[in-house]
Amino acid sequence: MAMTITKLHDHVGAEIGGVDLSRPLDEATFAAIEEAFYQNSVLVVRGQDLPPERQIAFSQRFGPLEIHILDQYQLAGHPEILLLSNKTDADGKPLGLVEAGRYWHTDVSFTEVPSMGSFLYAVEIPPAGGDTLFASQFAAYDALPQAWKERFASLKALHGLNKTTAPKFTDAQLASVKGVEHPLIRTHPMTGRKALYAGTFALKVLGVSDAESDEILTFLRDHWAQDDIVYRHRWQANDLVMWDNRSVLHCATLFDAQYIRHMHRTTVAGEKPV
Ligand code: OGA
Ligand code: MN
Repeated sequence: MAMTITKLHDHVGAEIGGVDLSRPLDEATFAAIEEAFYQNSVLVVRGQDLPPERQIAFSQRFGPLEIHILDQYQLAGHPEILLLSNKTDADGKPLGLVEAGRYWHTDVSFTEVPSMGSFLYAVEIPPAGGDTLFASQFAAYDALPQAWKERFASLKALHGLNKTTAPKFTDAQLASVKGVEHPLIRTHPMTGRKALYAGTFALKVLGVSDAESDEILTFLRDHWAQDDIVYRHRWQANDLVMWDNRSVLHCATLFDAQYIRHMHRTTVAGEKPV
């Protein structure tokens, strides 16, 4: 079975065909997938029968996995798998994270060393809705006017949580979350390409006036997910979708809560953005 790589969009996303991720991959096949991942930022592999241990084994080839701190949402016996789910247990308690970010973000950019890759496997999906959107931040950077590229080159933003991203936190809890600084433009370590690195966790641009920070963030919110740089993934059961948090923003969308959406997520550790 020959592996195929088919672009899904001019700027972001490719589909891998002709692979069975439930079996160990040889070095050459894995190297081709890894390269396609860094180049396309999002990979879609459909029709996979992926038990937890195989998803873990495949994900680990990209690097060490992160264990999510919300241990109540780990899959029993497989702490490397975070459940994204609106299923409930016998007592009505949610089995997983019900809402994983219906706003543009890059995973946990409010931490010092944000995640590199997030790998989401669809176990059960609603008949409609619950799509995931991906916006290329290589393309968002490339589309900046030259003067703005220069202006942003030395700027950093403070990333943290707020009422939009953490609605259940009280003001006092929010105030206690220390923010972290990251460059507004980061260089992808594998491709050398520059990417815009912001998203909804970016709360403030540092080293400029409050008014200038507001002006920049307002500009970025209009710019970072323009229609022409967005790939919309419409899920089918048995899809594995993997994204590179260093070069895309992503955004979850609504679905009718009478249907089940149940996903297994593995997360590959990243490096400090530079
Ligand atoms: C995530 C996430 C989007 C979705 O898992 O980090 O943002 O559509 N998921 O579930
Ligand atoms: Mn996310």
